Amino acid sequence: MTQRISVVGGGTMGNGIVQVMAQAGHAVTLIERSNADAERAVAMIRTNLGRLVSKGKIDKIQADAIHGRVTSADSYGAAAESDFVIEAVFENLALKQEIARAITPTLNEGAIFASNTSSISLTAIAAASHRPGQVAGMHFFNPVPVLQLVEVVRAEQTTDETVDRVCALATQIGKSPVVVNDFPGFISNRVLLPMINESIFCLGEGVATKEAIDDVMKLGMAHPMGPIALADLIGLDVCLAILEVLQRDLGEDKYRPAPLLRKMVAAGKLGRKSGEGFYSYGS
Ligand code: CAA
Repeated sequence: MTQRISVVGGGTMGNGIVQVMAQAGHAVTLIERSNADAERAVAMIRTNLGRLVSKGKIDKIQADAIHGRVTSADSYGAAAESDFVIEAVFENLALKQEIARAITPTLNEGAIFASNTSSISLTAIAAASHRPGQVAGMHFFNPVPVLQLVEVVRAEQTTDETVDRVCALATQIGKSPVVVNDFPGFISNRVLLPMINESIFCLGEGVATKEAIDDVMKLGMAHPMGPIALADLIGLDVCLAILEVLQRDLGEDKYRPAPLLRKMVAAGKLGRKSGEGFYSYGS
């Protein structure tokens, strides 16, 4: 059944989520801070659909139909008629709570508010919302069109029905939902980020070059890409934000962000999205 879905945030994750929702037949509204930002995100989706056409995965008529299901807006009010809202903005609790506080009172009784947060407490986001039982985590993985997992995060307040409906949506769009409880970093980033962080410590300490570190994990552990390249893909600012949440909320120094990671972020070298991280990506 076609659902009306709003996605708040049109960055790498937000526009990937919009794309997979529209590909699965849903009517999607992409909400950004300004029309220019929203249009830029929709243009990125158009480019990605064009790639699928040139690879012969879909034809031009299908690409146009998918694109036609996406509209853009520059205010939270555009989410009011949605069945599902998925928030995919930067990792900042106050911002996520502000969005939950603004949007959830305007939603219909049955609507669900999901957050794509990668580490922030869903319970704290739910607490700021109008119907906390209808809030859950819907954590996608980059690149969203490619990776199978949706980590479904159950906040303290989340009802069983909400979990079931989030899992049903994830399954309907061709993903595999896995349900976890709300703890800092959930399972995915509590396990992944310490590995990435340790690899950045190794680089900073001169244990090996970035290429060597990545090769060890690719060739010895069959990872599809090495941890340094993966940090660039995720975004070094996002990696830092997740590690700060882990260190603060679990109260353990073993999550202390590598100084080299902090230095890269301070220099504005954020990975693929800024054109330069540990590796260079051209313009
Ligand atoms: N968008 C859409 N499709 C993409 C893509 C993108 N950004 N990047 C690659 N693809 C597609 C390619 O088009 C290709 O599709 P086909 O097989 O249909 O032609 C397929 O993915 C494989 O791509 P490539 O052949 O170019 O390269 P690859 O085989 O080396 O795969 C990769 C690239 C998919 C990125 C792979 O290296 C990989 O899976 N890496 C691990 C990524 C990962 O761990 N992501 C999770 C990060 S954690 C996170 O996102 C959550 C968080 O909270 C931090």
